[in-house]
Amino acid sequence: MTIQENEERDEYIFSREFKDSARLHLQHWMWKFRLGWSIHPAIPVPQFFKEGELFRIADIGTGNGCYLTEVNHELNPLQRSHIHLHGFDISSNQFPHPAWRPSNLRLSVFDAFGPIPDKYIGAFDIVHVRAFTCVVKGNDPGSLITNAWKMLKPGGHFQWDEMDSATFAATSPNEETSNHYTKLLLEKFQAGCKGVGLQFGWVSQLAEHFQKNGFAVRDSIRLPISDELRKASTDNFLMGLEDMGKVLTERDERILESKRQFNENFMQALQETGKGVSLHMEMVIVVGRKDPSEQ
Ligand SMILES: C[S@@+](CC[C@H](N)C(=O)[O-])C[C@H]1O[C@@H](n2cnc3c(N)ncnc32)[C@H](O)[C@@H]1O
Repeated sequence: MTIQENEERDEYIFSREFKDSARLHLQHWMWKFRLGWSIHPAIPVPQFFKEGELFRIADIGTGNGCYLTEVNHELNPLQRSHIHLHGFDISSNQFPHPAWRPSNLRLSVFDAFGPIPDKYIGAFDIVHVRAFTCVVKGNDPGSLITNAWKMLKPGGHFQWDEMDSATFAATSPNEETSNHYTKLLLEKFQAGCKGVGLQFGWVSQLAEHFQKNGFAVRDSIRLPISDELRKASTDNFLMGLEDMGKVLTERDERILESKRQFNENFMQALQETGKGVSLHMEMVIVVGRKDPSEQ
């Protein structure tokens, strides 16, 4: 599929400009702060290599490549010469310029739900996906999980880190501070997502989806917000909501009632978050392994 055909099929609810990329960097930092690792500790990453041996890690829906950039940063020089990192996204808009990428990092345009080019079948030791809650349509991540399975070598690992949008909530810091308008904004978010085919029940069933598609589940974690991340989380989700409001109202005003109403509600929510109302979602991480005897 050509880049142009990919972009025509693209129904992403966020923009891909510098602010959106900056939001992904902030979100990445929140993940790292909360988890303390990039690759789940149950996934073995080799320290020693035979001559010519390669270990390959893919990141599907890589955005600006911040996850793989961090993974590369954590590797030692020997690992960097044997571990190849490959990020895939339906759009190259947020990719860093090739001059600034590490030499073992490649970035390619690719539809995560489309057919997998032959050269990527059975090619990877680890496949990683993160923050696809607003990408998976029809409440079913099955086709993406099947694609990850196809891309993995026998015995390879699949790690999916997700923000569970079904748990998106607004919490007041005390009884005196109202969260009324922030909750209204979240109702508009949920209605808008539903209007474009995004439902979030699948996130709580992610481990079952892994099993259904042949993976042995190695770990399944759900983490609530931690108080030390509440400010960063609120800033991150406000940026996301503002951008989504812009994108969806420009696409079709009716998805979010009207541009004027959404913007008014957003400004009211800003008053409340300025007084300490916190926006947060739970994080979900599932790790699965492809059976070593499966091709
Ligand atoms: C919320 S961002 C997450 C980016 C990255 N995974 C991270 O955690 O920083 C979702 C990404 O999925 C990409 N995306 C949307 N639809 C896609 C598709 N069908 N195939 C591949 N990537 C897609 C978007 O372009 C965007 O970069």
